[in-house]
Amino acid sequence: MSRRLEFEIFRLNPEDPESEPHTDRFEVTETPYMTLYLALSQIREEQDPGLQFDFACRSAICGSCGMLVNGRPALACRTLTSQLPDSIRLYPLPVFRLVGDLSVDTGSWFRQMAERTEAWVHQKLPFDASAEESRMSDDDAQAIYDSDRCIECGCCVAACGVANIRSDFVAAAGLNRIARFMLDPRDRRDESEWFEVLSSDQGIFGCIGLMACEDVCPKQLPLLEVHAYLRRRLFASRLVGKQTDT
Ligand code: SF4
Ligand code: FES
Repeated sequence: MSRRLEFEIFRLNPEDPESEPHTDRFEVTETPYMTLYLALSQIREEQDPGLQFDFACRSAICGSCGMLVNGRPALACRTLTSQLPDSIRLYPLPVFRLVGDLSVDTGSWFRQMAERTEAWVHQKLPFDASAEESRMSDDDAQAIYDSDRCIECGCCVAACGVANIRSDFVAAAGLNRIARFMLDPRDRRDESEWFEVLSSDQGIFGCIGLMACEDVCPKQLPLLEVHAYLRRRLFASRLVGKQTDT
């Protein structure tokens, strides 16, 4: 027999001065292979057309459907209701600006993080349109590909205790971005430039090792390995700096 699922969903329209934060309850009959995205679409179609939540790809690619599911950040499109109890609480991801109900603005957060960490390839040569494309080894390409699997869903940021209390911390997604460019042999930043980006409490030293980021990443990125890689690089660069000074 199909379960009746009871949803408690956070509601707030920040654009409406009369709107107060509260939760609404909805009931949905579970169907085989129902995802949270399908349940929410059904609620919006049949019970409340004003319910706000984001989605685009429905297949864990666009990163837009992150939300707190019973207190844990997850993608609505890849969470099966069969993995959850009958009673499901949905809240928007913290840290990000609330657009309304379950919809948050992850885009602005990721844009400012990319600008602060200068998340693009820094070449020191003048641009030459006739130059051959740069080559890289298969191992380098694979390592970059692994980091580039991030879909910028914001789940790791929302799960991070530090990012929740410090808006200037680049968090696991930001550290992963930095590592992606450090691994890229076309990026010509030297160790002192990397040190500048990484070595404050907005960067790697802001991480206090709570490890929630890796637990919640829907793409299973090895975020703790990335943190360890960045700490090693930083340590090695300081060691080399000290030896050169003496
Ligand atoms: Fe989402 Fe994982 Fe990227 Fe964090 S690292 S934004 S959890 S895909
Ligand atoms: Fe694109 Fe869920 S709808 S990741």
